[in-house]
Amino acid sequence: MDRNSAIGFFDSGVGGVSVLRDAVRLLPRERFLYYGDNLNAPYGTKSEDTIRTLATHAADVLLSYDVKALVIACNTATSAAAATLRARLAIPVIGMEPALKPASLAWHGGHILVLATPATLRQQKFLALSEKYGEHALVRPCAGLMELVEAGELEGGRLRGYLTAVLDEYRGMQLDAVVLGCTHYVFLKRELARLLPGVPLFDGNEGTARRLKSLLEQGDMLRAEGEGGVTFMTSGDEAVFLPLMERLYRVPV
Ligand code: DGL
Repeated sequence: MDRNSAIGFFDSGVGGVSVLRDAVRLLPRERFLYYGDNLNAPYGTKSEDTIRTLATHAADVLLSYDVKALVIACNTATSAAAATLRARLAIPVIGMEPALKPASLAWHGGHILVLATPATLRQQKFLALSEKYGEHALVRPCAGLMELVEAGELEGGRLRGYLTAVLDEYRGMQLDAVVLGCTHYVFLKRELARLLPGVPLFDGNEGTARRLKSLLEQGDMLRAEGEGGVTFMTSGDEAVFLPLMERLYRVPV
């Protein structure tokens, strides 16, 4: 492994492609390997032990390509497996958490709605974050939502129905912000903006990409020359998920 090695990204499925896009924008010369564990998605309704086992396997797939850094482009897998992976690996491991901190720093007197998977919201990492920044937070686990993105549904009746039902629960409350605490949900920004005009949507993607860049800089591991690129891999049906990843990589957010 050296500065010319690729950077590995993984998620339970296609959601992490939203993070990858920000990283490519910041680090255009780098080579990226993206692994979606679509076969085992969703992670967010599984137990912590199962998520840890699956995330460790996903990381091992990328490590077999000798990656120089590992991005856990998944809030759920970060909560369950980041500490274990960091303890085991000598390369930088970058994880994610719902962007509750920036949302609460921008607080204007209303509520901050946090949407994430059930597993993210019940794990210690989020509870600690919420203890610090969650005074005005409303927390809503969204089982079933990532499946719509995995099916390529970024708009349309099923998605609108799901989101409308969730938002109806908060009708009459002033929402200052919505935190998209799952990387899949970042692809739903357009639909959410339609339903909640003027309400800022926070996600942790850009912060994660910046952290990756700064860790590579600190370790003097940035690729010095050559052209960058992205390669997608999946544990699921390649004929379904590789084209979906390519599509999401290009979709305007
Ligand atoms: N994309 C993932 C996240 O950021 C989780 C989706 C899932 O597998 O449930 O939490």
